[in-house]
Amino acid sequence: MGTFPKHIYFDHGATTPVHPEVVQSVNACFTKFYGNPSEPHRLGREAKQILNQAKKTLGSALGADPAEIIFTSGGTESNNLAVFGTAEAYRNKGNHIISSSIEHPAIMLPLKRLQRKGYEITFLPVDSMGMIDPQKVLAAIRPQTILVTIMHANNVFGSIEPIAQIGEILREKKIPFHSDAAQSFCHIPTDVSALQVDLLSISGHKFYGPKGIGALYIRKGSKIMPQIFGGGQQRGLRPGTENIPLIAGLAKACQLSQEHLTDRIIRVTVLREYLVETVRKKIQGIRLCGHPLKRLPGNCCFTLNNVSGQDMVDQLDQANIAVSGSSACAASSMEPASAITALGISCEEAVGSIRISLGYENTLAEVDYFLDVFPKIVTKLRSAANF
Ligand SMILES: Cc1ncc(COP(=O)(O)O)c(C=O)c1O
Repeated sequence: MGTFPKHIYFDHGATTPVHPEVVQSVNACFTKFYGNPSEPHRLGREAKQILNQAKKTLGSALGADPAEIIFTSGGTESNNLAVFGTAEAYRNKGNHIISSSIEHPAIMLPLKRLQRKGYEITFLPVDSMGMIDPQKVLAAIRPQTILVTIMHANNVFGSIEPIAQIGEILREKKIPFHSDAAQSFCHIPTDVSALQVDLLSISGHKFYGPKGIGALYIRKGSKIMPQIFGGGQQRGLRPGTENIPLIAGLAKACQLSQEHLTDRIIRVTVLREYLVETVRKKIQGIRLCGHPLKRLPGNCCFTLNNVSGQDMVDQLDQANIAVSGSSACAASSMEPASAITALGISCEEAVGSIRISLGYENTLAEVDYFLDVFPKIVTKLRSAANF
């Protein structure tokens, strides 16, 4: 195997490197703009201005009013607030929620908790390409349905769900609609009017921003109950002194991503197509999971027979390539393998899954190195296991 001069990062679905300009924005708030935005003095006013500007930046990326943005500690908190906050606000109207079988644990587990508290949850299945059928959403609606939550793009196999079509149905039925856009925001267009959503979760570290910061878009007029209580910041919906450094970093990452959105989609899609096509020619028994076209630009999720995902990840790590894989397969677990079995793929095959998630800073030379190394690793692992 040839050697590659540096570490290759192909795990952007897990997190992204922080852009240097984001680091600068964050640092400026730690050292210079450290005021509390609720205070009326100059430092407070400067912090407030950064906060307001960040809301404008996110609002413009989402096609939303800045007043509809609430900052949170990330995708997990945004999802929890959307699910628990809506369930509580509509408790007197009904107790039925519709979701899907492929949601991230930050949706699945809040829903399971509501289930234990007496709510009824419908987890809709997906087809073999990981797509939810909007007609199945329509058929699942009951008079007691108070929320539908369906992810925009899947974190394991990258399929992009028909959110706009589902939104149209729910708008007509006047049912609140939330979408977890942690994987899609700043990677593909995510306009809340086009998608017809009422609530949308985003996460900063998925698009070259800091970890521990995200936002929830809440359409004006939506009913939602806060889940923590305190000083009344952010209209009492998410109190606590705003984390200005990370909010500034989130806004900078968003601004940079939006400026280059189309270029990056094209660049990353070309790299992905090349990787997928070549790997298919070089390795037998490999299949691409998820939708072949309606997928996140950088997501290449494969299952391979007769090899384990964890072994592939370990071997690639030794070759200085970071990817992610699956290590378990239980219907009850939240492992990537269970998202893959939701596609109708057997457990045995699902444990042989690997996710390569490319970013705009990856190069053709890096992909070529991977394409040289990976088939050799698969051959080695398959022969060691005597398959
Ligand atoms: C689809 C999806 N939702 C939610 C999250 C959680 O986001 P965070 O890490 O910001 O809490 C992730 C992160 O892996 C994700 O991929």
